[in-house]
Amino acid sequence: MQDEAWDEEQKHFQAVLKAWSDYLPYSLHVNNGRRQSLYALPQAHQALLQGLQAPVPVPINGVPVQRGFRAKLNEIDDRIRRNADVLEQMAHFCRSFLGILDESQLAEGANSASNKVSERDQDRVRTAIKQMARDWGAQGAAERARVYQPIIEAVVRRRPPSHTEPVRVLVPGAGLGRLAFDFAQQGYCTQGNEFSYFMLIPAHFLLNCTQVVHEHTLFPYVHSGSNWHTSSDMLQPVRVPDVLPSTLDENSDFSMVAGEFLEVYGKEEERGAWDVVATCYFIDTAKNVLRYLEVINAVLPIGGLWVNAGPLLWHFEHEPDTSVELTLEEVLELLPHFGFKLEEQRILEPQTYTGIPNSMLSHQYTPVFWVGRKVRDQGRAPVV
Ligand SMILES: C[S@@+](CC[C@H](N)C(=O)[O-])C[C@H]1O[C@@H](n2cnc3c(N)ncnc32)[C@H](O)[C@@H]1O
Repeated sequence: MQDEAWDEEQKHFQAVLKAWSDYLPYSLHVNNGRRQSLYALPQAHQALLQGLQAPVPVPINGVPVQRGFRAKLNEIDDRIRRNADVLEQMAHFCRSFLGILDESQLAEGANSASNKVSERDQDRVRTAIKQMARDWGAQGAAERARVYQPIIEAVVRRRPPSHTEPVRVLVPGAGLGRLAFDFAQQGYCTQGNEFSYFMLIPAHFLLNCTQVVHEHTLFPYVHSGSNWHTSSDMLQPVRVPDVLPSTLDENSDFSMVAGEFLEVYGKEEERGAWDVVATCYFIDTAKNVLRYLEVINAVLPIGGLWVNAGPLLWHFEHEPDTSVELTLEEVLELLPHFGFKLEEQRILEPQTYTGIPNSMLSHQYTPVFWVGRKVRDQGRAPVV
């Protein structure tokens, strides 16, 4: 990497670590806002809320449940602190992520980064916590089954894993790595690719620093007070991981590669290097999806498979960056141009993405699913 790009990468990493460490003060501050709202109420209303008998669960066995609105706010504080403990362990484990940084450099960098807490980054931290439930919690099992399962089944049916001739599966935009891990568990030689440190840090931690199933307890749902039936729903724990990554067969070939998909896999040495590309909730992260299609074509040999599942929630639609938003009809029309022949296409059953169990609000996707086979090479269009 060029010096300038490397400096940028380090700054980016430090900003993410700062967001990680800002989680505790930021989240406590938000909860304190709720407390202030409570104290601003008329005394009579405060007394009513304090007298509520609905149980507020406590996380320690043997301690009786609490009651009253203030107790709920105290328990939210408690869960925020518990989340922060796990985040701190992750940050600690990942400090050497970029290889050359020592602790003092990082601390200096993180402090010299703006003192302002970025709302957007805090949102990303909270999303990462919810994503841990999706990928590595028992709560996420149903969600995973709705979309990872069809992808894996489509591959197993067409290219079953083989000991004699390993089948190489690439999972771009791998998030916390569970789909890639599940492929590896099936016996595929698998690589997940991800460019966000908000995902890479927890993925690295869960994949490489877990000794036992359910080692870490997170409380992903304490950040919003809306749409709950009970305090237990809001304060529910999620234990991760639900499967121990180190139980992967010692001969298995599984890796996660950090970097931007087009940059990493647009290289000459990646040409035809993968038998299968599995994209899940990924292609709509493109500013120009046609570039993704070129690279997916390039990394597969003729006869290689591309299995895709996901919506078309174009991530850059509302950003100042240039973004091209296409309909499904338009994307499907483009596939033959990019060297793919569709073998299967359907709409998957409605599903959530980092959905919240027992919430009164549920955003549902009806993602498209397809299996394309590469039938010819398609070169990269020049920049102009
Ligand atoms: C919506 S998430 C899907 C994650 C995972 N596949 C899943 O289904 O849970 C999209 C992921 O792609 C990653 N991503 C987006 N653009 C990327 C790019 N150009 N290169 C690598 N990863 C990218 C994001 O950081 C994010 O983790």
